[in-house]
Amino acid sequence: MVPTEQIRFTRKNIAKTFGSASESYDVSARLQRFSGKHLMPWLPEQDDLTVLDLGSGTGFFTDLLASKYQRVIGLDIATQMLRFAQANRNESITWVEGDAHHIPLQDNSIDLIYSNLVIQWFNPLDNAVKEILRVLKPGGMFIFTTLVDGTLHELKSSWRQVDDDQHVIDFKTATQLNDVFSKQSCQLVEQKCQDIVLEYQNVIHLARELKGLGANHLANKKNRGLSGKAKWFKMTEHYQDFLEPSGIYPATYRLFSGLVVKT
Ligand SMILES: C[S@@+](CC[C@H](N)C(=O)[O-])C[C@H]1O[C@@H](n2cnc3c(N)ncnc32)[C@H](O)[C@@H]1O
Repeated sequence: MVPTEQIRFTRKNIAKTFGSASESYDVSARLQRFSGKHLMPWLPEQDDLTVLDLGSGTGFFTDLLASKYQRVIGLDIATQMLRFAQANRNESITWVEGDAHHIPLQDNSIDLIYSNLVIQWFNPLDNAVKEILRVLKPGGMFIFTTLVDGTLHELKSSWRQVDDDQHVIDFKTATQLNDVFSKQSCQLVEQKCQDIVLEYQNVIHLARELKGLGANHLANKKNRGLSGKAKWFKMTEHYQDFLEPSGIYPATYRLFSGLVVKT
């Protein structure tokens, strides 16, 4: 069990890191674009719906949802992300600052919740799922993508050869995700899992992209300074084991997509 104070600190930390990435986010969001579009075929055709984009980030997909549905809300924990979204996206969208663990919306008020690459930050996930189901109308849909275990395995294994610290977030397994939904009043009616391998010119390019996405909040603070640099250099040497003949560095993202219906 993670102490409440620690959880609060981590969420504040997540909000801050994503917030500071708001300006650079859209240029380094290759994975997000792919995964978000991947969910489109699951969107209901009916347009008279109230839709929530949970963890809306810069609002790229909130905008797409607003072109399809009548009432769209974008909710995010990071103030700067919301500011960016408000300034750049469709004026009909309602922007709400809030935490997915305490969604500031009424019970049974939402027809569809869309969430692209967000729930991997939720802790504990089952509390956030309870909130998602509370605000959904009966029969309402939650469609999402997330990353699962196996993600960034090249980076994890390269670091493992240098030290025992945690450098990459622990992702849930697909089985753990199924377990979370099986214990709540809902059904995971569709699911897909696939590996997306992105290519990088070097490890610095990968680290920059992870930073641009605000995904670096677990970066180990102990590794700052000279010894940190030496360790980083060693890790990049080990990463060369994965180098492709073309000289490209691969990074694997294991993408899980799900369609949940509230029962
Ligand atoms: C990887 S970004 C994805 C943004 C957007 N869904 C997209 O596809 O471009 C994750 C977003 O989730 C937000 N987030 C993380 N934890 C959250 C929480 N507990 N409640 C609400 N938003 C959260 C972050 O601030 C960030 O904007």
